Amino acid sequence: MSKLAATSPALKTFHHLGELSIDEVRALSARALELRSGAAPANLSGRALGLLFLNPSLRTQASFQRAAQRLRMDLVNLQGDRLWALETRDGAIMDGAAAEHVREAAGVLGRYVDALGIRAFAGFRDLAEDLADPLLNGFRRHAGVPVINLESAMWHPCQALADWVTLEQLKVPRRAKFVLTWAWHPKPLPQAVPNSTLCMATQRGMEVVLLHPRGYDLHETVLAEARRLAEDSGGSLTVTDDRATAFAGASAVYAKSWCSLRHWSDPTAEAAFRAELRDWCVRPEHLAPGARFLHCLPVRRNVVVADAVLDGPASAVLEQAENRLHAQTAVLERIFA
Ligand code: CP
Repeated sequence: MSKLAATSPALKTFHHLGELSIDEVRALSARALELRSGAAPANLSGRALGLLFLNPSLRTQASFQRAAQRLRMDLVNLQGDRLWALETRDGAIMDGAAAEHVREAAGVLGRYVDALGIRAFAGFRDLAEDLADPLLNGFRRHAGVPVINLESAMWHPCQALADWVTLEQLKVPRRAKFVLTWAWHPKPLPQAVPNSTLCMATQRGMEVVLLHPRGYDLHETVLAEARRLAEDSGGSLTVTDDRATAFAGASAVYAKSWCSLRHWSDPTAEAAFRAELRDWCVRPEHLAPGARFLHCLPVRRNVVVADAVLDGPASAVLEQAENRLHAQTAVLERIFA
């Protein structure tokens, strides 16, 4: 284990990468790269990890299971479709669909495990509710054990850390140009990944360009957070809808689709709003010489990105996915440091 990693305090929660200092993120990244190079994981035998997935997952589920196995932890893996529907509102009169309040659900699981991972996407019913991240924050308040965000309405810190690790692994310079581009998708998707990607790249000190068509702004609180992180790290943030200028000279292009804040709870209006934007697909001509292509996966081929990019030498998507395992192993080690 690196000296900095070994001497840093235990993590009490892993909620949003931007809440960690740059030194803490660098230490986690360095440890993930050590693990990737074959360093032995810590022995956390006797500790139990709970994973609660209220939404589908391939990478997060498999990589956390594998990380727990490598750390010799016990694992409690729960799928939301086999659980009681959860209420999050304080003072709610629970005569509707929800049979259990997050206060009890979190409190009970906190009695069984030593750390708890929660996946709870945006519900797309009400923007203000999603901005408050009620399920994730309900578990953080009431579990009594460290809670790991496995992707909430607002943030996906495990993906962001793995992406930071990938940029280090690929030796993408810290001051290089990093483009986060919106892409067309047949369904409205949440903003947790673009929120976290934007903050990760600005926190790393990169020359960040947020590229999207008009109307696809990220929330003002996220933009303010990204600007704060850029100021702290010596990076920068530019927002544009001009694809030609944005892609020119970029070292990394990260594609992601997300729903417009204007039509958050109205998928029909959202579909109409984006109908003319199918051309927002990353193709080889968008990548500058030497640029790397990133995406968190799952990705829709020839919709979000062309086969020629995904199957070519620029693509780093499998490295990103592998780094989920190493980054999360490092996070679990730090929680139990
Ligand atoms: N990138 C990511 O979180 O993948 P899953 O949704 O499959 O876990």
